[in-house]
Amino acid sequence: MKIHPLLKEARLFFKRDGFFVIYILRYIDNYLLSFIVYILRGGKNMENRLIPFSPPDMSDEEINEVIDTLKSGWITTGPKVKEFERNIAEYCHTSKAVCLNSATACMEMTLRLLGIGPGDEVITSAYTYTASCSVICHVGATPVLVDVKKDTYEMDYEQLSKKITSRTKVIIPVDLAGIMCDYDAIYQIVEDKKALFTPNNEMQEAFNRIIVMADSAHAFGASWHGKKCGEVADFTSFSFHAVKNLTTAEGGAVVWKDIPGFNNEWIYKQYQLLSLHGQTKDALNKTKLGSWEYDIVSPAYKCNMTDIMGGIGLAQLRRYPKLLARRKEIIQMYDKGLSGLNVKLLDHYGEDHQSSGHLYFVRINGITLEQRNEIIEKMAERGIACNVHYKPLPMLTAYKNLGFDIKDYPNAYGQFVNEITLPLHTKLSDEDIQYIISSLKDALSCY
Ligand SMILES: Cc1ncc(COP(=O)(O)O)c(C=O)c1O
Repeated sequence: MKIHPLLKEARLFFKRDGFFVIYILRYIDNYLLSFIVYILRGGKNMENRLIPFSPPDMSDEEINEVIDTLKSGWITTGPKVKEFERNIAEYCHTSKAVCLNSATACMEMTLRLLGIGPGDEVITSAYTYTASCSVICHVGATPVLVDVKKDTYEMDYEQLSKKITSRTKVIIPVDLAGIMCDYDAIYQIVEDKKALFTPNNEMQEAFNRIIVMADSAHAFGASWHGKKCGEVADFTSFSFHAVKNLTTAEGGAVVWKDIPGFNNEWIYKQYQLLSLHGQTKDALNKTKLGSWEYDIVSPAYKCNMTDIMGGIGLAQLRRYPKLLARRKEIIQMYDKGLSGLNVKLLDHYGEDHQSSGHLYFVRINGITLEQRNEIIEKMAERGIACNVHYKPLPMLTAYKNLGFDIKDYPNAYGQFVNEITLPLHTKLSDEDIQYIISSLKDALSCY
């Protein structure tokens, strides 16, 4: 077929410069739209976007998994959860994984598996979400809170060491924002205090030292000294809550390192019993023809994961490497855009560690708590949802009522007072990031 020379020329041009042209048109289009908004607003606010803090990133893959589950005739714990568990264990380089309905349930069931209860002390950070500490209360043990080291979000390891007594059974380090703690320091302290440890049961005897149970609600996919989060602490719990990097709407998983003398299938079975009424057969097995008989071995708890959640998780995990890579790009854009400002940022990526890139903390030097709150309001006026991570536990009613006082945690207070968490999620475009950076710069220019 003979092609007109002009058409040939146009085809050549598009092949060579087409993408560039499309890009320019898109750019002009964006500005045209902003300009119309500007005129309609009577010349105020050249640009105004709506940027949520952390919306879920759901694609057709997740939707199809849910449809598949709904059509399968089995919607509660079943094949999808089992497959998700196998995939998580493989991802974390552990022998097994257990999926439950939250990280909170994972941590609480682990404390119960370890036989922690009244008379025992469990140590965690004062700078965390309530779940790291509430689970200690749930099992009737005594929570012991450690301040963070000055200008960091990690426990002060000297203070941690001093707070260990003969009643201390577990330490719960918190991998905040997706960055893993210094587990070398933690295990060194555990080793140094070994003589104080008094085991109460066979599993505690197998450890014969304080057990490290990481709250890695934020850190699924992080790594430290070449090891994946999950293969460092004795037990590691992840959250798949709606705002997390990898989500199943609600949900969580726990993984553990092999324990000498304990069979992993037996440990897995204990989690199943604890999380499903102490019932010897799960719902799927009970429905097998003629197989109704079951026993209840203890009046246990109910916090299993459904196959609908498991299906979402399977799709999210397949997409996870790409989601993590995009988080890294966003963090690097933020780091570059905010460099030169009077702020303190986290070190998400280094030679010895890779963060899961869950949260982007900014500490603004020299501002008061009121000014921090004003900045968050200014960002909100520009349509940007920011947050604060965290109000230290001793400032919250529940923990004040337990006798904790923020005066004893000055470093945690220092971190909280000028902290702002910027939106960090995979629905953000590069333009959104630039908009957030310039909005923060504008907001900071008044101080
Ligand atoms: C540090 C930390 N630990 C634990 C949890 C609890 O996770 P979940 O909601 O899955 O129980 C959260 C939830 O936000 C958290 O931020």
